[in-house]
Amino acid sequence: MDATSKINRERWNALAQANVEYSRPFLDFTVENAAEHVYRHGILKDVAGKQVLCLASGGGQDSVAFGMLGAHVTVLDLSDVQLERDRQASDHHGLQTRLIQGDMRDLTIFPDNQFDIVWQIYSINFVPSLDPVFSGVRRVLKPGGIYFLQFANPFAIGIDDQKWNGNAFPLNSLYIEGEDMSGRFPNWDVEQPDGTRLVCASPHEFRHTLGNVMNCMAGNGFILLGLWEWMKEEDDPQPGSWAHYTQVIPPWFSTFWRLEK
Ligand SMILES: C[S@@+](CC[C@H](N)C(=O)[O-])C[C@H]1O[C@@H](n2cnc3c(N)ncnc32)[C@H](O)[C@@H]1O
Repeated sequence: MDATSKINRERWNALAQANVEYSRPFLDFTVENAAEHVYRHGILKDVAGKQVLCLASGGGQDSVAFGMLGAHVTVLDLSDVQLERDRQASDHHGLQTRLIQGDMRDLTIFPDNQFDIVWQIYSINFVPSLDPVFSGVRRVLKPGGIYFLQFANPFAIGIDDQKWNGNAFPLNSLYIEGEDMSGRFPNWDVEQPDGTRLVCASPHEFRHTLGNVMNCMAGNGFILLGLWEWMKEEDDPQPGSWAHYTQVIPPWFSTFWRLEK
């Protein structure tokens, strides 16, 4: 584990202990919720019996959704606390989930062609380069397998959603592959149940340009099946609000890819 991952492990542990949104296990989830979560894009159909790797997707959310639909789920994540949330959610729902602490850039623990589906919710931006991850996924995924990859909109990642100036969210950072954005945004404020905000150090988070993501995926033999731009659904959002920001510039993209046969 390199210095970036050591720091990010500590910082993700602290964020999870602060109960950041991405660390709250789905304890009230139903099978209907699970189906909506996994099948909402219309790409995945029936995951029962499939081997699924939730890659850097700890926190007790995605693992629960796939487990409730009958998939054989493995979670690999850097953070002990995130994995603990998967354990908690798995026990709560009576699921069998394999949990592995590790770095997404090192999948050597898995044999070749192990998984039908690799599901990677927002996490690729926590590593500085893409190819170690994509080439690892290519190896562990079966030919024809599906890779879900969610990543930061590289045009949005440099924009501060708190800095509405009455007319615009200013965009003034250079568009640089691999820039560590935690220098610009050193803290995450995590809202607590009593309304106070806990300030946590940001994990290292890197901009990956659109061209680089697309070309690195194509270079590893992945064929694009679709791309979705997330924004918060709200009519007439208040200017400067989070919903407004996401409708000005969607903060992340969700993509599905099929590995060539
Ligand atoms: C935003 S969370 C994603 C999962 C979350 N449940 C969600 O709802 O989006 C990012 C995850 O990436 C993990 N992570 C960051 N760097 C990693 C690395 N190098 N290898 C494996 N996991 C990593 C963190 O521990 C964290 O669980």
